[in-house]
Amino acid sequence: MTRKFIENSAVIASHNLGKVREISKLLVPLGITTISARELGLAEPDENGQTFIENAEIKALAAAKGSGLPALADDSGLVIPILGGDPGIYSARWALDPNGKGGSFTSAVKKIKHSIEKMGATSEGQKASFACALSLCWPDEVIISFEGFVHGSLTFPPRGNKGFGYDPIFIPENHQLTFGEMDPIEKHQISHRAQAFKKLIGLCFN
Ligand code: IMP
Repeated sequence: MTRKFIENSAVIASHNLGKVREISKLLVPLGITTISARELGLAEPDENGQTFIENAEIKALAAAKGSGLPALADDSGLVIPILGGDPGIYSARWALDPNGKGGSFTSAVKKIKHSIEKMGATSEGQKASFACALSLCWPDEVIISFEGFVHGSLTFPPRGNKGFGYDPIFIPENHQLTFGEMDPIEKHQISHRAQAFKKLIGLCFN
């Protein structure tokens, strides 16, 4: 049987402010007080898993053990089947500059386009999905994970500045706008993160 979340506080196992805000927004209406791993001064563990779920579980486990509180972590990225799933779990790393700093999505987008075309394939309209794994871990190491996906296709050049990361090159299935052009409220209804959250809420918070 799935463990239910009956506590009234949780750690958001992320040092990324955007993610902390997004995850807090989900938990606060449920009466749960949130604090981030950064606010607690917890060290960031090495994300050396081979899948989104493994990486989310590494982060949730480290934060739950470090804080003594239940911890929620997410790991997400853009999956392009023709590139063997890349950038996938390396989505954030593909956007690092040569010094390993910052987030240069302009160069990551160029790299994606170039890698697809190098294979003799067409980058425009190429199939892609966003994936999100969410893991909830209690201090006794009971852990539960969920995945959500949104499928779609790629477009170049990037369009729209309402989102972040790879949003401007991704058009979700049955839509014309990229995630970068879409109202964030609309994106959050169909996104990979929303799908994973729905599963988590349905199983652990009801
Ligand atoms: P993580 O912090 O290791 O989970 O890195 C996730 C990376 O995947 C982010 O830095 C973005 O590059 C990308 N990503 C994940 N979700 C989205 C999204 O909703 N829109 C655009 N890019 C995303």
